[in-house]
Amino acid sequence: LTDTYTLNNNVQIPVIGFGTWQSADGEEAYNAVKWALEAGYRHIDTAAAYGNEESVGQAIKDSGVKREDLFVTTKLWNYQRDNYENSLRGFHDSITRLGLDYVDLYLIHWPEPIEYRDHWQSLNADSWRAMEKIYKDGKTRAIGVSNFREKHIDELMKTAEIAPMVNQIFLNPGDQEKDLVTYNKNHNILTEAYSPLGTGNLLDNPELKKLADKHGVDVAQILIRWNLEKGYLPLPKSTHQKYIESNKKVFSFQLDYDDHKTLDALDGQGKQHTDPHEHNFQKVVPFLNN
Ligand code: A2P
Repeated sequence: LTDTYTLNNNVQIPVIGFGTWQSADGEEAYNAVKWALEAGYRHIDTAAAYGNEESVGQAIKDSGVKREDLFVTTKLWNYQRDNYENSLRGFHDSITRLGLDYVDLYLIHWPEPIEYRDHWQSLNADSWRAMEKIYKDGKTRAIGVSNFREKHIDELMKTAEIAPMVNQIFLNPGDQEKDLVTYNKNHNILTEAYSPLGTGNLLDNPELKKLADKHGVDVAQILIRWNLEKGYLPLPKSTHQKYIESNKKVFSFQLDYDDHKTLDALDGQGKQHTDPHEHNFQKVVPFLNN
């Protein structure tokens, strides 16, 4: 395994990113990112909808890690993408909260916002035009999408000048999205996995515990390693320093054929319910409702 993947525009991206979804703004997100940077993560994933960009940005700034050594991702939320101009403003607001001049990757966070469900096609086309403008202006080193299905990317490509470099989706052995990851691969789109630990739901699985014991690691490390061996980019999230550190130590063992068979058999056990996930953001992030 390598340290970085190469995106379809030749930008290098560190193969494990630190996830911050569900890390609360303030001390929780600040400390998590601080510990992640101390542990050697150089790829941090946040979003306007997570409501924690200010804390994430502050931890980055205080870490003293050189900006050019870091890979930072953020995402455009539904509230700010009702048209082209607002999409540009959404980006500007994010980098202002982060305290950065540019990001490394900017994603459209959600393909079919409930409030625009009857015209998601033109909505995504307009937002993508804004993403392309931000990219051409050098304000982000790569652009992509998140939670997009095949039909959303097919539709986007009808008007896109630049193809997405990344599709970030809910992905773990309990929900393997085989068709979608094959689609991404065939289109030179890197698959990023959020909730690689199944938001914690796979950690007590007895079969996975057996695998972990066999390799002398913990279940989280097995799940992260599975992602890497599949060629995906996992974004494990934690707010505990010891987990943050151990989630990165996945390079000293290898899953064998039988291990993969065990993991592959878990598919379907942890399907995500997309709409409650979307609603969840609207509830927990007050500024998005303004
Ligand atoms: P916490 O944030 O309290 O440390 P995912 O990345 O799939 O969304 O999963 C995140 C969940 O898994 C969080 O609840 C997180 O807990 C937990 N978690 C992260 N790393 C580990 C680990 N190494 N061992 C046990 N639980 C973990």
